[in-house]
Amino acid sequence: MSTSNVRASYSPPERLLLGPGPSNAAPAVLQAMQRTLVGHLDPTFIGMMEEIKAMLRHVFQTENEMTFPVSATGSAGMEACFVNLLEPGDEVVIGVNGVFGTRMCDVAERCGATVTKVEAEWGTIIEPAAIAAALEGRKPKLVAVVHAETSTGALTPVEEISRLAHEAGALFLLDTVTSLGGCPVAIDDWQVDAVYSGTQKCLSCPPGLAPVSFSPRAMEVATSRKTKVQSWYLDVNFLASYWGSERVYHHTAPITMNYALHESLRLVLEEGLEARWARHQQAHETLKEGLARLGLSITSQEGHQLWQLNAVGVPDGADEAGVRGRLLNEFGIEVGPGLGPMKGKIWRVGLMGHNATEANVERFLDALGQCLT
Ligand SMILES: Cc1ncc(COP(=O)(O)O)c(C=O)c1O
Repeated sequence: MSTSNVRASYSPPERLLLGPGPSNAAPAVLQAMQRTLVGHLDPTFIGMMEEIKAMLRHVFQTENEMTFPVSATGSAGMEACFVNLLEPGDEVVIGVNGVFGTRMCDVAERCGATVTKVEAEWGTIIEPAAIAAALEGRKPKLVAVVHAETSTGALTPVEEISRLAHEAGALFLLDTVTSLGGCPVAIDDWQVDAVYSGTQKCLSCPPGLAPVSFSPRAMEVATSRKTKVQSWYLDVNFLASYWGSERVYHHTAPITMNYALHESLRLVLEEGLEARWARHQQAHETLKEGLARLGLSITSQEGHQLWQLNAVGVPDGADEAGVRGRLLNEFGIEVGPGLGPMKGKIWRVGLMGHNATEANVERFLDALGQCLT
């Protein structure tokens, strides 16, 4: 192939990313990515890795020593949690109320586990009573749920589910890809044993890293397995030596992405967790009010609606894909379509991290109003 068929350089258009992710990265995060490269075992880089771990502990609200970013996207964080904790023949109970609970089941089955699904209608939460019913007469090794279901906009409260899991002798695993940095996440208070997230949503960093945290109890399970972890790359026994004090070479950390995560976490700390959550809540409420003025509403379960991902019902007769196309092409605003049973029925409007502002909500409402008339 000759370079005459390739543009001189790819120049992406300016977009306001109000979909399910990625959200726009904060400008300071993009600037941090332009810093010069150092080696991944450079003493200064190692010092920065330590700061990333400390800031992640703060954002996850945990004291867990094993808290670090996996060098890959959120799905790798999911796999890292399951592959390290499950061995063939283990039993797991998984809440399924959208795409990501469904993905968890697939990942757990690939680990050779027997999966009991606790299904809830898409858009609603996983009820503790349904988990309790599934745990009756079972002794699973793990109970897993998605905190913030990005495919539906529902936020499942997890404290009670965690308590039930532990009473049954199981570990508790939580997906916080969309919740971390946008609403309260308290890993130690909620006694979560394994948690993963992603950088591209409420942390306002590009996609590419998956922050994870393992409790001492989860690490004991991971280090005393009968069988090898089936993934060499995601084996926490190796990752512990790479991200721990030994610094044993495992893989080449994506240097630039770590600069970005460092800067984005610094910005989260600078703003303060509570102030950041309040900003997300405010943006959500302003959106909800504005939607009501347009005769529209949010379809996920009342009382459990996510601030950072709003499932907006498509009104009768509106061209769902057409409106999305106009928002993108005429107004430079990306929103997401519905998935699975929600296809054609909702627009997914993300107000994540840096993007969760009143100004962005007003810009979106104005553009949506024009597309609907
Ligand atoms: C709740 C949830 N879990 C997992 C993932 C997977 O993350 P990634 O797409 O970064 O691999 C996503 C991505 O949107 C998500 O929203």
